[in-house]
Amino acid sequence: MVYVKSFLDDLREKRKINLERSEEYVNEVFGNICNNIDSLTFISKLKTHDKYTYTHNLNVSIFSIAFATCLGLGAENIKIIGLSGLFHDIGKMLIDQDILNKPGKLTLPEFEEMKKHPVIGYSLLKADHRHQTDVCKATLQHHEKFSGGGYPDDLKFSEISNQAMLISIVDVFDALTSDRIYKPRIDLHRALGILFNLKGTALNPVLVDKFIKFLGVYPVGSIVELANGKRAIVVEQNNLNLLRPKVRIIMDKNNKYCSAEDVDLLDENHVDDKDFEIIETIRAEDCRVNVMSYLY
Ligand SMILES: [Fe+2]
Ligand SMILES: [Fe+2]
Repeated sequence: MVYVKSFLDDLREKRKINLERSEEYVNEVFGNICNNIDSLTFISKLKTHDKYTYTHNLNVSIFSIAFATCLGLGAENIKIIGLSGLFHDIGKMLIDQDILNKPGKLTLPEFEEMKKHPVIGYSLLKADHRHQTDVCKATLQHHEKFSGGGYPDDLKFSEISNQAMLISIVDVFDALTSDRIYKPRIDLHRALGILFNLKGTALNPVLVDKFIKFLGVYPVGSIVELANGKRAIVVEQNNLNLLRPKVRIIMDKNNKYCSAEDVDLLDENHVDDKDFEIIETIRAEDCRVNVMSYLY
């Protein structure tokens, strides 16, 4: 959990992710949970083929384990989720590197080729008889969509395994917050906004809400900057949308203290107003605010 926290801090503060620590963490976690599968040897084959996918698989595994632990799932289930995260894109090992690392948009035939990776991954894992059925299944289903229309089998929510639905949220989150050759990473707040908008279509809505809660983006007392330049303190969560809490504005757009004004970001006057979107979290020490004096 300490690792996950520092990983999130790196992300929030736009620092480079520490890959060595990711590997140490995974070694530690997997040392405990998979004593008879030499997972890291298998996954390291992917490293030589495509470095991004290798790192991405590690991240998805780490985050999925932390998220599943936070949900209170059982040890066996967490193990399946951790392994599913680790292997979910293993099929990309057999996809042409020119397609994987193409700087521009994929052509239709290239995209069709890319879409084969869940089936390839499933076959690779199945052929190695040590892998559990649930891990193979989550690998196969991680691009299925909650409301249908995903690949390879166009399944709907009741047909998609719980492990696959969990992995797919973390998968999208990690892809959005990572630098790629064809796009820079986007910040945590925007990434969560995109996940929120995929609720009920591509992603399981209940799990997305829990994931946002798990990340603890705007706990009460955090200081945030709005798109209109004003700074505010989060005073209460809105359970309907954790990305739009109730806030107390304390600084104007010139960073000058102003008389406190309470605003519900989910209020109908503000919910569609771009000016009232949170764009950043600010550390209390960076703006010398005595948060407690504003909360009580
Ligand atoms: Fe994938
Ligand atoms: Fe992925």
